[in-house]
Amino acid sequence: TILIVDFGSQVTQLIARRVREAGVFSVVAPFHEAEAAFNEHRPVGVIFSGGPASTHTEGSPRAPQALIDADVPKLGICYGQMVMTTQMGGRAEADDHREFGRAEVEVVAGSPLLDGIWAPGERHTVWMSHGDRVVEPAPGFKVIARSPGAPFAILANESKRAYGLMFHPEVVHTPDGARLIEAFVRRIAGARGDWTMATFRDEAIASIRAQVGEGRVICGLSGGVDSTVTAVLLAEAIGDRLTCIFVDHGLLRQNEAADVEAMFAGRNDVIFNKVDAADLFLEALDGVSDPEAKRKTIGRLFVEVFEKEARRVNGDFLAQGTLYPDVIESVSATGGPSVTIKSHHNVGGLPERMGLKLVEPLRLLFKDEVRALGRELGLSELLVGRHPFPGPGLAIRHPGPVTREGLDVLRKADAIYIEEIRAAGLYNAIWQAFAVLLPVQTVGVMGDARTYERVLALRAVTSTDGMTADIYPFDINFLGRVAARIVNEVRGVNRVVYDVTSKPPGTIEWE
Ligand code: XMP
Repeated sequence: TILIVDFGSQVTQLIARRVREAGVFSVVAPFHEAEAAFNEHRPVGVIFSGGPASTHTEGSPRAPQALIDADVPKLGICYGQMVMTTQMGGRAEADDHREFGRAEVEVVAGSPLLDGIWAPGERHTVWMSHGDRVVEPAPGFKVIARSPGAPFAILANESKRAYGLMFHPEVVHTPDGARLIEAFVRRIAGARGDWTMATFRDEAIASIRAQVGEGRVICGLSGGVDSTVTAVLLAEAIGDRLTCIFVDHGLLRQNEAADVEAMFAGRNDVIFNKVDAADLFLEALDGVSDPEAKRKTIGRLFVEVFEKEARRVNGDFLAQGTLYPDVIESVSATGGPSVTIKSHHNVGGLPERMGLKLVEPLRLLFKDEVRALGRELGLSELLVGRHPFPGPGLAIRHPGPVTREGLDVLRKADAIYIEEIRAAGLYNAIWQAFAVLLPVQTVGVMGDARTYERVLALRAVTSTDGMTADIYPFDINFLGRVAARIVNEVRGVNRVVYDVTSKPPGTIEWE
């Protein structure tokens, strides 16, 4: 085990992720609980994370002195380096020329940490983000690398197996960062490296059992990867004390409701309730065209329907497929209010109202890790690899008032688009691809006759977490082929366009 002491950095979980990728289990503990975690887990190494504070601000976080004094390998990153330095007898200071972004470090001495990765005399790109810097290393530390803005970019005390990095090795903008973290946990700390998703699965199941005890859990299923993996994991852990509630709001993709139902039909250890609420949702959406009004209507009805079902179950817990990026987004670094771009759809508020406690077994994972876990749980590749789908469903891919006829057109066109993407072997290279039916009619000509039908927009983006996105650069012949099929096979569409807007400035969905 590696213990990661969290000082509140936005990217602490990326450290955990890199440690997992090196095949080593890690525990993240906030700095004020780190000593208890250290005594409980007996880690072979400790990593001190970055953080927003400054070490010379009154009351800024410190590491438990027992950890600093413990004879165990240590790696301090950014703020973690300041903490180690000051608590081991050196000095750090606020820096006038704060450094943010890409920087180049020059390696000035060899170290077991860098063996086979960086050699003395080389220069390498790293990602810096700091306001403080070390001005006097702690006794016994020597400089391994420096940068123009940080004379102590890497400090090492080899006899204590203690290292301080000024830059962030956990982010992808430090190209060799993952290898440095792997070197620390495997070579310096000597962790074995035999941890896998199978281990995660077993541990998650054990921890669900410990949390839930003899209680009952309700889980909302949307058909998406996150909620499905959550449900299946819970099913393994607690069997028929789990009730899955699947609200079909009539805004799902082609065959989606049937696929989800089929997946649980084969399991007799889980209670599966499907609620057909299409009429309810579509009537409420009748005539609504403002995007936020649509989102709010759907969110409100969803909670109502879900709550009614949930009351019957008498649950103690609500399971949610919250992922790590959702956790980061909701804890703003500045503490300041951030602007609502879109009202995201979830069952927020429900747990308090119903007195339910939350079970969130995926909250430390990233999307691709959730997919790996889904495979580990035996879910089909078709389901596990599925593109993300928003809670409000097709309603936000149908600008203007939603109609049943429009949804039908959209479902058919979307299915053709996805089928062609799969046939071309491109599905997994794309984060999300979908069709949007525009409330605009244009003139066309088909077989000597004039047509006056609607425009369909195609969207496809690449992304790692949905926060930013680039357009997918399809071959124009591919797009032409998809357009021809859609116009020929789907009545109601006579023109197809491709959305070439990245995020930002666009968002992924159109509403
Ligand atoms: P945007 O459109 O904001 O979307 O760029 C980013 C990602 O989030 C998905 N999305 C949602 N997911 N409930 C969800 O569960 C929602 O209300 C919602 N709105 C957008 C979107 O599909 C994309 O993957």
